[in-house]
Amino acid sequence: MDSAPCPTVAPSPVRPAPGRIRARIAGFGGALPERVVTNGELAASLDTSDDWIVERTGIRERRIAAEGELTSDLAVRAARAALADAAIAPDAVDGIVLATSTPDRTYPATATAVQAKLGLSRGFAFDVAAVCTGFIYALAVADAMIRSGSARTLLVIGAEVNSRILDWSDRGTAVLFGDGAGAVVLEAIESGEGEAAPGILSTHLHADGRHEGILHVDGGPGSTGTVGHVRMQGREVFRHAVAKLAAVVDEALAANGLGHDDVDWLVPHQANLRIIDAMGRKLGLPPERVVVTVDRHANTSAASIPLALAEAHADGRLKPRDLVLMEAIGGGLTWGAALVRL
Ligand code: ACO
Repeated sequence: MDSAPCPTVAPSPVRPAPGRIRARIAGFGGALPERVVTNGELAASLDTSDDWIVERTGIRERRIAAEGELTSDLAVRAARAALADAAIAPDAVDGIVLATSTPDRTYPATATAVQAKLGLSRGFAFDVAAVCTGFIYALAVADAMIRSGSARTLLVIGAEVNSRILDWSDRGTAVLFGDGAGAVVLEAIESGEGEAAPGILSTHLHADGRHEGILHVDGGPGSTGTVGHVRMQGREVFRHAVAKLAAVVDEALAANGLGHDDVDWLVPHQANLRIIDAMGRKLGLPPERVVVTVDRHANTSAASIPLALAEAHADGRLKPRDLVLMEAIGGGLTWGAALVRL
């Protein structure tokens, strides 16, 4: 046994007084593969049609990663864009929390690949697996770390190459997904109390593993030793999505003493336009207050919310002090919501 005394640890310079600290979104970034694949191209090899896909899902096209283009490559591009938007140097980052279900490898975590590609060697880096709810889970973890004083500046990333786990002969799933990455920079700020002060107001996470059978990948390193493919009972997932998302957005608003009228923007997970429209109607939001990318990106899983945030920020829709409501549901089942004052 090593009986050497514990080394003296210098007091961390990043430990603010917890309680008044909030995590503010200081920068947004997104990255998409170059290659666009339209519904028409899929219909050439699958028994499907542009009409069916648009009518049932709202999806018109998706981006597909090039050969050799990895989840970490897309994640790094999104992270660099978010850091530039925040005007924060990469070496100010205390840690990277990356949500993905399509990691570059079983290990190490894709977050560490991103760290290395950004040229960083300090701080921490880890992955979060909560499928399409991954970004909300990652945001919740990062928010808690900032509030507790464990970190001041964090990169929160959602990144996927779903195309590598799709069964391209299954029309029920192949038409639904795409590849991409989105990122935000979270920064500790001395915020006021209450819902009017900027920062993440609250996050709300749920899971019910009894429903794993309706949406899962049928392989993995600890079971089959293979990567496996996405399998989904679409109608069942749809049924859960409408009920669970409706409940979790009300939970998030009630926790902050807010009502539907207070929401400036709904930035939902982008799985199906019919689910997105149902949530917009439930909240009484006009369509122009709901950020939609599913038509061009399809379902990019953990990347869909930060990609939508980056797009709405870049085109000037999101303004300082706007109240943004995010919600997602995915395999697990997992689901959740986050309320953020910009
Ligand atoms: N083209 C043509 N026909 C199709 C296709 C296709 N691409 N896919 C399925 N069909 C057929 C089915 O075989 C079925 O035919 P049948 O009636 O002869 O049996 C018919 O269309 C209807 O199928 P349903 O599955 O009932 O269609 P539905 O209207 O439910 O739409 C969809 C399917 C789009 C998958 C929808 O159920 C959905 O979006 N579900 C939710 C998905 C979701 O929210 N996922 C979020 C999480 S994703 C994640 O976590 C990774």
